[in-house]
Amino acid sequence: MQIKLKKLVPRPEESLLEFRAALGQFATGITIITCFDKGIPKGIVANSFASVSMDPPLVLWSPAKVSRRYNAFITAQNYSIHILSNKQKHICDAFSEAADAFDGLDWKTNKDGVPILSNCLARIDCHQYAQYPGGDHTIIVGHVDFFDYTAGEPLIFQQGNFSNIKLSKASTDQLVATKESAAI
Ligand SMILES: Cc1cc2nc3c(=O)[nH]c(=O)nc-3n(C[C@H](O)[C@H](O)[C@H](O)COP(=O)(O)O)c2cc1C
Repeated sequence: MQIKLKKLVPRPEESLLEFRAALGQFATGITIITCFDKGIPKGIVANSFASVSMDPPLVLWSPAKVSRRYNAFITAQNYSIHILSNKQKHICDAFSEAADAFDGLDWKTNKDGVPILSNCLARIDCHQYAQYPGGDHTIIVGHVDFFDYTAGEPLIFQQGNFSNIKLSKASTDQLVATKESAAI
């Protein structure tokens, strides 16, 4: 099948819809990013997370300027990125509805005073490293201070829908072996 390529005309509504559809073909995981904002724990669902650098260890994500949570995350010196498992869709739903949706969730505070969620596939604690203009978003680059991870299947987001993927046993075994060898 031949795919006809579309040219993105800036602005017209349809074109933006199609731009979203094209970007939605990129399946991502789901993260919850957390920080304290004037003493109140805050969280946001983000799929803009990406790894950037190994040395130094850097990751990025981008909050939208229109979000009521934008100022909290732009000013937070420390924050934590949680990669959700396919058993944690309820956490994604909770933070989609409210920034302070910690009630009823298993959470505590890390040594940098950041609210952290338990039982995620991975947790990456960061401090602010750099910020770059990103149109209607800002690109936040975090320096990784601590991370942890566990075996499990990720929550996947693609074309506006959530789904699961089944990992092969080999892939899970490899992750467990990596963790065990690092512990020796
Ligand atoms: C799957 C998914 C991915 C999202 N990714 C981002 C993101 O990367 N950056 C962002 O600013 N908002 C993202 N959002 C939206 C925010 O999580 C949140 O819903 C939005 O900020 C709500 O607006 P408010 O902060 O004004 O309440 C995402 C939402 C969903 C459901």
